[in-house]
Amino acid sequence: MEFEEKNIAYPPVHPGTDRTFIRFYSGKPDLNQIFYSQEQEDQPQRIFVTDTNVASLKEMQPFVNFFRGEDYSKPEIKPGFKGKRGNDVLLILGSGEPFKTIQSVLAICSAAIDSNARRSAVFVGIGGGVITDMTAFAASIFKRGALCELVPTTLLSMVDAAVGGKTGCDFDSYKNMIGSFFPAQKIHIIPSFIQSLPESEYRSGMAEVVKTALLYSKDLFEKLAAKPEILQNRNDPLVEQMIKTCVNAKATVVEQDLTEKNIRMQLNLGHTFGHALETRAGLGTVSHGDAVAWGMSRAAVLSEKMGLCTQKYRTTIQNVLASFGWETTPLHSALKGKYSSEEEAANSLFEAMKKDKKNASGKVRFVLQKDIEETVITEADEKDVLCVLQN
Ligand SMILES: NC(=O)c1ccc[n+]([C@@H]2O[C@H](COP(=O)([O-])OP(=O)(O)OC[C@H]3O[C@@H](n4cnc5c(N)ncnc54)[C@H](O)[C@@H]3O)[C@@H](O)[C@H]2O)c1
Repeated sequence: MEFEEKNIAYPPVHPGTDRTFIRFYSGKPDLNQIFYSQEQEDQPQRIFVTDTNVASLKEMQPFVNFFRGEDYSKPEIKPGFKGKRGNDVLLILGSGEPFKTIQSVLAICSAAIDSNARRSAVFVGIGGGVITDMTAFAASIFKRGALCELVPTTLLSMVDAAVGGKTGCDFDSYKNMIGSFFPAQKIHIIPSFIQSLPESEYRSGMAEVVKTALLYSKDLFEKLAAKPEILQNRNDPLVEQMIKTCVNAKATVVEQDLTEKNIRMQLNLGHTFGHALETRAGLGTVSHGDAVAWGMSRAAVLSEKMGLCTQKYRTTIQNVLASFGWETTPLHSALKGKYSSEEEAANSLFEAMKKDKKNASGKVRFVLQKDIEETVITEADEKDVLCVLQN
């Protein structure tokens, strides 16, 4: 497969984690070519990890079948499947957030131990953010740190999760409560993977695309604003271009601030409101992308209220978000009927924001914008926040 390559460098958090090579491939996914075109003797041992949905994709069969032995009709692709190809192992986990557990991470470590993996082994996560986060986490703790490569297969994991070295799993009903910073050595981006994504997953990734455009690319934002129908047409050449723009923008940010001490925090635009909505609606009720999109509209209203941006800028953002079909009203429909009044809903959301793990010293901080590509991180008065959550 043809690819272009970019590399980014950081202070190493562990030997071998000071640089990430990001490869953008054109054409259909061909993992045999990516991972098996060199002589086997030159290759370190690989622990491949994916989930049942990804392992079942048509374009994955030529790769997965090598791990199913001579008789391709068995064994079945189901959670817990383990197959070998020479020294390499393929482990298939259950799909989705409910499987983002410490048990899954330990299953990855067990698969590595069972195949006598050394610290020089490469853990390769092939999937959405759930798989890439957990595989990279397992790589970071296996024998105090093995190596990691990622093949993101959802729009969200291409433009966000796989880039930037945040790893982890959920724990005790808290999202991403356990984890580490452990950048992958290589990230293989194959945009054509998005063709098979369910509509809801594609939309969820698009919210992060719009967020990245607002933060770092006026040009991309204007192109998206002029083309909301891109949600229905994944073959539009703009799709590949937008993935590349977002990956490059995130790479530039994490290269400067891997461990989120300063500018990386900007990437949380829309997330303070969005996480609170996800929590109060009940985890999984509103998709992460839909919540972030609603959060961006609330952040724009708060910016205007605090005198940071103009009414024109706030209106532009809300119109674009609405044209993509996202909610921009103060009370999200997922909360309707859950509270006796808008005031009660607003108070409940604000309480959830105060508990967000990213808050320093108990104060709620917001990522707000003065204009496109002009972002500030600031605290806001409780009354202003409550005000933008009510009509
Ligand atoms: N590390 C980070 O910086 C970071 C950033 C953002 C999000 N995340 C994490 O990412 C996770 C969400 O990622 P996600 O949205 O990719 O979810 P996901 O990994 O659950 O994938 C979504 C669904 O799509 C399926 N799928 C994956 N690729 C597919 C394909 N090509 N075709 C068809 N189906 C496919 C998966 O099996 C799953 O059912 C969350 O756990 C979140 O915490 C991490």
